[in-house]
Amino acid sequence: MKKARADIPRISDMSYPDFIAFMKQDNTPPGGDATLNYWIRNSNIKPHSYLLDLACSTGYSSRYCFEKVHCSAEGIDISKSSIEIAREKTIELKATTHLDFLVADACKLPFKDGVFTHILAGCNFAFIHDRNIALLESARTLSNQGILCSSNFFYRKLPPEDLLDSVSHSLGFKPGPHWDLNFWTDFFNSVELELIDEKNYDLHRFSDDDLYRSIRQYIFNTNNFTSLLPTELKEEILSHFLEIRRPLNIQRDYQGVSLQLWRKK
Ligand SMILES: C[S@@+](CC[C@H](N)C(=O)[O-])C[C@H]1O[C@@H](n2cnc3c(N)ncnc32)[C@H](O)[C@@H]1O
Repeated sequence: MKKARADIPRISDMSYPDFIAFMKQDNTPPGGDATLNYWIRNSNIKPHSYLLDLACSTGYSSRYCFEKVHCSAEGIDISKSSIEIAREKTIELKATTHLDFLVADACKLPFKDGVFTHILAGCNFAFIHDRNIALLESARTLSNQGILCSSNFFYRKLPPEDLLDSVSHSLGFKPGPHWDLNFWTDFFNSVELELIDEKNYDLHRFSDDDLYRSIRQYIFNTNNFTSLLPTELKEEILSHFLEIRRPLNIQRDYQGVSLQLWRKK
């Protein structure tokens, strides 16, 4: 096994959240900016809104909402390195008066009841092991008539078991083959939330060449941090990112994306 050098962390050993933070990646919800625009427009996020960016990774969603409508937000994630990057990017944006980020567990939110007008939930309940507890905590901290904005991958056809094993290796948890659209809808329906809007669509895999080209372009050119690293390190990042993304790309042939807005009753 390759030894870590003092100045370079062992990239191949990093967990998915830590790797995202290491690259200072703007981790977006499924559907990217189109999802965020859908949430802002259809759940009425305004300057006076107070959002919880739940399991926020490096905090892209709340920064985007701030830049679009000048609202306020708290972001939480269990990954310390992700929160450090979220804070760094907030300082760069000069948005510390409106955005704050904390290391916290979604199952034990450090907030009072009913404080948030909106909760942003992009691809996070899948990652949270005790997701039913986290959902109860979300409902507790949401104000009456407040809206939980979700964006989830779901299975539109049954994925093979060996693919799920590869996905588990990439992400650090194994998705259930039964996580279809009904599964996620029943999940959110299990607490005091009512579905007020929904938009679903299918995904399809990219060719291996296109996947390779887009990830290489991202690491070598688009990402302001990784593009300045030494070539050897960029190659190491590329290799780990491809190892993560290849199973996720194949999985797209079995997946759809579901955007849903859930209002607290
Ligand atoms: C795919 S990322 C979420 C991305 C982000 N919500 C977005 O829309 O771009 C999943 C995140 O869940 C976080 N996570 C997992 N379990 C958690 C928990 N119990 N409490 C808080 N965050 C958790 C991980 O650290 C990871 O950053």
